Amino acid sequence: MFRISLLNRMVRRATPVFMYLLVAIGSSTQGNDLTHQGLLATSNRGMVVSVSRPASDVGQQILDAGGNAVDAAVAVGFALSVTWPEAGNIGGGGFMLVHPSDGKPPSVIDYREKAPGAATVEMFATGDESPYLHVGVPGTVRGLKVAHQRFGRLSWENVVRPSVDLARDGFVVSEELAKSLNGIIEKYPNNEELVRVFAQDRGQRKWRSGDRLVQSDLAETLDSIAVNGADAFYTGKIADAITTEMKRGGGLITTADLAAYQAVERVPVHGTYRGYDVFASPPPSSGGTALVQMLNTAEGFVLRREGRWSVRTLHIMIECMRRAYCDRARYLGDPEFNQIPSHLVTKDYASKLKETISTSQATSSATLGADILSPGDRLHTTHFSVIDQAGMAVSNTYTLEDDFGSRIVVRGAGFLLNDEMGDFNPKPGVTDATGLIGTRPNLVAPGKRMLSSMCPVVVSQNGRVVLVTGSPGGRTIINTLFCVVMNVLEFEMPLREAIDAPRMHQQWMPDAVRMEAGLLNGHALEVTKLRGMGHTVDDKPRIQGDAHSIFVEQKSGNRLGVVDPRRSGWAAGQE
Ligand code: DON
Repeated sequence: MFRISLLNRMVRRATPVFMYLLVAIGSSTQGNDLTHQGLLATSNRGMVVSVSRPASDVGQQILDAGGNAVDAAVAVGFALSVTWPEAGNIGGGGFMLVHPSDGKPPSVIDYREKAPGAATVEMFATGDESPYLHVGVPGTVRGLKVAHQRFGRLSWENVVRPSVDLARDGFVVSEELAKSLNGIIEKYPNNEELVRVFAQDRGQRKWRSGDRLVQSDLAETLDSIAVNGADAFYTGKIADAITTEMKRGGGLITTADLAAYQAVERVPVHGTYRGYDVFASPPPSSGGTALVQMLNTAEGFVLRREGRWSVRTLHIMIECMRRAYCDRARYLGDPEFNQIPSHLVTKDYASKLKETISTSQATSSATLGADILSPGDRLHTTHFSVIDQAGMAVSNTYTLEDDFGSRIVVRGAGFLLNDEMGDFNPKPGVTDATGLIGTRPNLVAPGKRMLSSMCPVVVSQNGRVVLVTGSPGGRTIINTLFCVVMNVLEFEMPLREAIDAPRMHQQWMPDAVRMEAGLLNGHALEVTKLRGMGHTVDDKPRIQGDAHSIFVEQKSGNRLGVVDPRRSGWAAGQE
């Protein structure tokens, strides 16, 4: 499976002659090739897997210097703000799941952005607001600081410093980064600060792999964070630069909003699947709740017997997705503003849901969510996974929301601001068949966190980490993780195969299933049968997710780092 999908991807980019050679090379060199390209790594010590090679290398250096997984993750988080600006950030937010190695309970640092104090419930109802209104109060710097204070071993300055160096001295641009930077500059040629900071020769020349990207404003910003801590971002010069930028475009964030921002440590959502413990992000992310609900429901059917690509397995998985996403729309939002029903993640509720699933017919999404219905995914988030020698694991997903967020670069400070406010339900009361959600739990309110789908996951058994995974992809994120976790725990696929295997997505509304090409075309007969059961299957294949993951082989303790080939990336294992 993995060979086929990797080849598919290479083939899409390759010339016909090279393509023929690739197919002819066969399997014997494949593992070595992947290792050589950083797509696969093994180690019996620490491992870092991220979308960007220089960031993974920073993580590995921190581990080599005696840092633990959280030190490495904090360093990677800052490094990606330099080396992967479309999603790596200090102006956005996310969730970090930490699974300690000493038997202490796993924990989530919630550093999701918040609505500014002047936000109002109807502020997005017309849909034509300034991008400045879409910026939420950034959480990343406080989040990384809280994680470091709580779990880190090296000094703060030690873990931030490598990013200062990367920004100041520059680093070598990869083909993937060149594509990303060229794409955003082409789209926004008149965004002066974006062009000044991220274009090659002010847009006169396109980026090519091998070029060097230097970001001196960002180096100064990061240096000040390295020396003075998170407060340097939330008060003083950098905070002033953010509020000045806000005033320029009619944004709402004030110095008081910034000074008041706090990251929160939360208890992860915990579920079990056939004897494994599954930990994932709690509200204000919908990720963990929906994932555990889907796994609980799927556990009631013995799908292993049916095979991963059987019509029955695909059908049941789609029905699990539909129900969890409907409940997501109905119930989930910031827990500080909502009472989140606790039954959603129980086995008892899953067995009730099981009873509602017909084995021969698709459920109508409209019927399922009739009570909340009144008469849209991208890869622009990033996930990285880290484990250290002792077995402490970090699963971190963070984002600016869209690629390059709001595309607003804080003038003179060199970093991008998120456009996360778009994750709130925009029109109160309007939930429709296009996927628009207008339910109460996720309406805009001052100081509230917008609902996320980000879903960093750690699976463990008897306290020992088995799998560290997560993905970008907006609402598709949770289904990507459902596919990956099912592939590993139910279908016992090796991680390489589990990551490469084609994915699918059903999000309640719109009432349609989206599939990757390997499923849509590679299992066309099964897809025809699903359609016969009443499922609407989109006939356009989509690429889904980018799950950079780590698997720990329990007997040997060996760690396998796997880059998701849908995007580039780098698995760096300690020697
Ligand atoms: O928090 C969320 O669910 C979204 N803001 C994540 C955005 C995303 O994944 C976009 N691209 N991959």
